[in-house]
Amino acid sequence: MNGEKFEGWREDITRQALSAQSLTDLQSVRHHWLGRRGKITEAMKELAKLSLDDRRLVGKELNFLREHATDLLNRCEKNMALQEESRQLEAESYDMTLPGIWPGTGLLHPITRTRRLIEDVFLRMGFSLEYGPEIEDEWYNFEALNIPANHPARDMQDSFFIDLPGMVMRTHTSPVQIRAMQRYGGTLPVRILAPGRAFRRDDDATHVPMFFQVEALVIDRGISLADLKGTLSTMAHELLGDDVNTRFRPSYFPFTEPSMEMDVTCASCRGEGCRVCKGTGWVEILGSGMVHPQVLRNGGYDPETVSGFAFGMGIERVAMRIFGIDDLRLLYQNDMEFLSQFGSYTGRPGL
Ligand code: PHE
Repeated sequence: MNGEKFEGWREDITRQALSAQSLTDLQSVRHHWLGRRGKITEAMKELAKLSLDDRRLVGKELNFLREHATDLLNRCEKNMALQEESRQLEAESYDMTLPGIWPGTGLLHPITRTRRLIEDVFLRMGFSLEYGPEIEDEWYNFEALNIPANHPARDMQDSFFIDLPGMVMRTHTSPVQIRAMQRYGGTLPVRILAPGRAFRRDDDATHVPMFFQVEALVIDRGISLADLKGTLSTMAHELLGDDVNTRFRPSYFPFTEPSMEMDVTCASCRGEGCRVCKGTGWVEILGSGMVHPQVLRNGGYDPETVSGFAFGMGIERVAMRIFGIDDLRLLYQNDMEFLSQFGSYTGRPGL
């Protein structure tokens, strides 16, 4: 009778141990059979009530059963522990052979790259860099440059005036001419390049209220228009390539006399005439001229003994030209998708 019962127990234990899904399951199987109130444990306590013969027989059976249960459960637990460990390792594993994730290293903005390229051209020609404040004294921005109050030329400038009396967001980089002359204190030669921001109150497809200019000023004995033209043509070829043509047109600026603007062949049509150049084949890129005698005087130089030239150029226009960008506003929308196109190193110094 007992034999059959224990045979059933043995099957139960085996089935339960083998079907357990986790260490916790195995623990409750162990508890059910071998715990302090477990079935085998209880049955062993009952042995005392049996006759000597029965006790020996049943005791032996129970011992086998307990050994079987202990042994099986031990093995199952070991197995389960290994399984659980490898399952966990699997979940935590990562492929060490995958390439790493590069942090974005960033790129220089096309305007910065263009500015550096221009600087590089002029540093090689013996110029040095000069800087001035963006919030400028009206005297430096206008009066010293021959633009008196009420002079119609002030209308060309669309100034941003600010809450500081007598101050203005500089409308061009030309005030740096005066500051440089003062700093050079009458010594020769003056040969400076002044890149920086300028501010004007207009905003459309070809103008933004904050833009970049680069100003150049040269003063020495015997500087002539030929020096200006030579410098500008050299710059145009260095920046835009040997095949670009330049043309000079008479113009007007209060601080230069004579004044001229330089055009370069249109990049879109190569001079044939198209929408970009309004059919002329030419695109204007800068204003320039021989420094007005009064401006020299304002800077502390004597126009009887020295002369000079100056020019001011918009950096955005040059950047658009170099990188083939057709809308000025694209440079200021900070669209990384767009800007990252201009990240490759071109092999040119500063770019
Ligand atoms: N300052 C002028 C402008 O912003 C450009 C210029 C600079 C013209 C120097 C002549 C000489 O339009």
